[in-house]
Amino acid sequence: MYMEKTFYLETFGCQMNVVDSERIVDLLNGAGYRQVEAAAGAQLILLNTCAVRDKAERKVYGHLGRFKPLKDENPAIILGVGGCVAQQEGERLLEKIGYLDLVFGTHNVHKLPELVRNVEENRTRCHETDFLDRDTRLQLFPARTAGDATTRFVTVMQGCDNFCSYCVVPLVRGRELSRPSGEILSEIGALSESGVKEVTLIGQNVNSYGCKEDGELSFARLLTEVHAIEGIERIRFTTSHPKDLSDELIDCFGTLDKLCHHLHLPVQCGSNRILSAMNRGYTREQYLGKVRRLKEVCPDIRLTSDIIVGFPGETEEDFNDTLTLMEEVRYTDVFSFLYSRRPGTAAADLADDLDPGVRQGRFDRLLALQEETCRQWREGDIGRELSVLVEGESRQGNGQMFGRTTWNRIVNFEGGKDLVGTIVPVRIVKAYRNSHLGELVPGSF
Ligand code: 5AD
Ligand code: SF4
Repeated sequence: MYMEKTFYLETFGCQMNVVDSERIVDLLNGAGYRQVEAAAGAQLILLNTCAVRDKAERKVYGHLGRFKPLKDENPAIILGVGGCVAQQEGERLLEKIGYLDLVFGTHNVHKLPELVRNVEENRTRCHETDFLDRDTRLQLFPARTAGDATTRFVTVMQGCDNFCSYCVVPLVRGRELSRPSGEILSEIGALSESGVKEVTLIGQNVNSYGCKEDGELSFARLLTEVHAIEGIERIRFTTSHPKDLSDELIDCFGTLDKLCHHLHLPVQCGSNRILSAMNRGYTREQYLGKVRRLKEVCPDIRLTSDIIVGFPGETEEDFNDTLTLMEEVRYTDVFSFLYSRRPGTAAADLADDLDPGVRQGRFDRLLALQEETCRQWREGDIGRELSVLVEGESRQGNGQMFGRTTWNRIVNFEGGKDLVGTIVPVRIVKAYRNSHLGELVPGSF
């Protein structure tokens, strides 16, 4: 009797992993596997992991433990780990976790069907974590299909050469590589033809797109070309490194109508001493200068940021510099993280004698400041009529629809499914922590 093969996939971490996971789904579908929503009953269980912070890494070990009883019950189940933890640990993961079958690194996603078959047919455990050379990587950039989505991520570059002293990404994702602009543009053209209205160009540091390729477009030029594609109504990009945010790129926020008025511009810290120890390549003053220019060319732009609290050697004064920078910029959201030592990074060798209680105390103060700023921003939206690109049914499962404002804020509202893919005016009636509740403006569509 034919038994359909099924797989269960959990994804942790950033957009890169989300895109890799979409690719995993495509590849496994092609190999005759169907995705299921629960691990119990699946023949193949995969975790796509993140190693950027300690918490993310520990989660992986926790989740693997969750699947052990399933594997004990049915040893034929194949359990695999991919992503940044897989890349960093490689074969060691197989040694540490006796019931794990498969480890695949960040450059080896394309090999997954072959690796799974190998485990299936030979009942061996295997690992594949070699980095690929430039030409092979260029051929393997995932070509995206639209499905029935309104909004899609499009990878424009991969890897990172910045070596911020705390960050493991250059070690687990490899060197920076930009995808040819011709390919990106034809992919977005095809996405648009199949109904996609918004694209988010993604990479570890999209601002340095093309810099290392002879004759390639700058990122600002690439955005201008994407802007010319008919049918695409909104453009976003992430992540930006402040040192590579050029004047040409800042100007795009004033000249390209489709470019959303939101920029995630991670500052990490407000103290020049710590910024230098972090190897970030800009000063507080340079960062604030760019923020000022952004607000000049696009007065209603909203900024979000990542901030690390408690980098080794951070003093009370350094931390206060971070708080005053936050007060000056007034981010609409901040993703704040307690510093965690990542083996193999430059900062891992720094003396780190900050008391954990002090570190946590600073984190709580930062959170309180940001919470107050967030509250002011969101309450300021109440009563305003905002343009919302409708993406689908609300994830709250209450029959409402949801979409996003230009500032990337989720808005839930009552409306028909026929609105998906259109931009509608919605009046904001309530502002929750992570989303707005709105009402369609009557007679306007
Ligand atoms: N400790 C804490 N936070 C980190 N990040 C990256 N590495 C570390 C680390 N070692 C944060 C940075 C980055 C975000 C993706 O994760 O703020 O922007
Ligand atoms: Fe990590 Fe810095 Fe590269 Fe971002 S720019 S991925 S923080 S090394």
